[in-house]
Amino acid sequence: MKKTMITGTGRYLPPRIVTNNDLTKWMDTSSEWIQKRTGIEQRHWVEEEGGTGPADLGLEASLIAMKRAGWTAGDIDLIIFATLSPDVNFPGSGCLLQYKLGLESTPALDIRQQCTGFLYGLSTADAFIRSGLYNKILLVGAEVHSTGLDITTRGRDVTVIFGDGAAAVCIEGIESDEQVGVLASSLHAQGEFAKSLWLEAPASMLNPRISEKILDEGRHYPEMDGKLIFKMALKKLPEVTIEVLEKAGLNLDDIDLFIPHQANMRINQFYQKTMNIPKGKVFHNIQRYGNTTAATIPLAMDEALEMKLIGKGSTLLFLGLGAGVTWGAVIYRFAG
Ligand code: ACO
Repeated sequence: MKKTMITGTGRYLPPRIVTNNDLTKWMDTSSEWIQKRTGIEQRHWVEEEGGTGPADLGLEASLIAMKRAGWTAGDIDLIIFATLSPDVNFPGSGCLLQYKLGLESTPALDIRQQCTGFLYGLSTADAFIRSGLYNKILLVGAEVHSTGLDITTRGRDVTVIFGDGAAAVCIEGIESDEQVGVLASSLHAQGEFAKSLWLEAPASMLNPRISEKILDEGRHYPEMDGKLIFKMALKKLPEVTIEVLEKAGLNLDDIDLFIPHQANMRINQFYQKTMNIPKGKVFHNIQRYGNTTAATIPLAMDEALEMKLIGKGSTLLFLGLGAGVTWGAVIYRFAG
């Protein structure tokens, strides 16, 4: 039977580093506040003059992942591009990446699931592979947040948490009798809380979609009810962990590394304690990158592989919650 296997990973961060102290030049905040409340010490942002979109960052990450998988662009059957900050309103960043890869007619699909983009993308890739429709899928999570943030005191609660970056994985359907690949996934959404974390304008439900008034009111910047999202994460992440473990017929002890979305270090520390998981089994890299949204989980996996925390035979549990509100978890096992 075909199993959905990750055969290459790659990440790319723009070179410009913005530390917490740098942010204090533009807004009333402090490095201590940011570090204490979020765990973040620095993030990477694209150059201020613009010209770099998620498809550019995604291209760099993809080339690394493809090299490791032994793929050329022509091997790709489908591109799935997860982002909340597409290069332009339309077409999707997947189409832009497809062209940058030198491809002429390979299908490209964007998914707009924010922090759970990688989870939804991996589950979608798994379904395509098991259906037999596509066999080699390039899944990219990439964001350029920095050009759309309110870099003043008004936007400080949201702005300090976001970083730019990309990660990519090559996914292949491989025949195996072993219990490997994507073992189970659980995805959820609750649109009731859409306005608790959103970026409203430009919006087709507004006429005009953007105006001086909208700009003055700052409705073109992301807005978040941080406390509500925080509390939802503390509740939903343990719930979805139990749900996905049951689906896979596994226990917590069977997981070698938990790779949560990197939204706030405190959320992940709370999760680790609630679930009674040994400290070293929950991966963190938010300190260096902030919240790169659709990129956080594959970026963390790529680092964990490089650090040799995981490798052949490792079982991983990816999980996250974010705008939508959406949340989910996927269990994945590398071949031994
Ligand atoms: N620097 C200094 N002070 C600040 C900052 C800042 N950057 N931001 C807020 N404050 C102040 C507030 O004004 C407030 O002051 P007051 O008490 O005088 O009114 C105080 O600090 C507390 O503010 P809160 O917003 O209540 O701070 P909180 O402890 O909730 O932390 C945070 C904010 C870090 C955003 C937190 O709520 C959080 O991480 N929430 C979850 C985020 C998340 O998981 N998002 C989902 C993923 S993102 C996605 O899907 C796109």
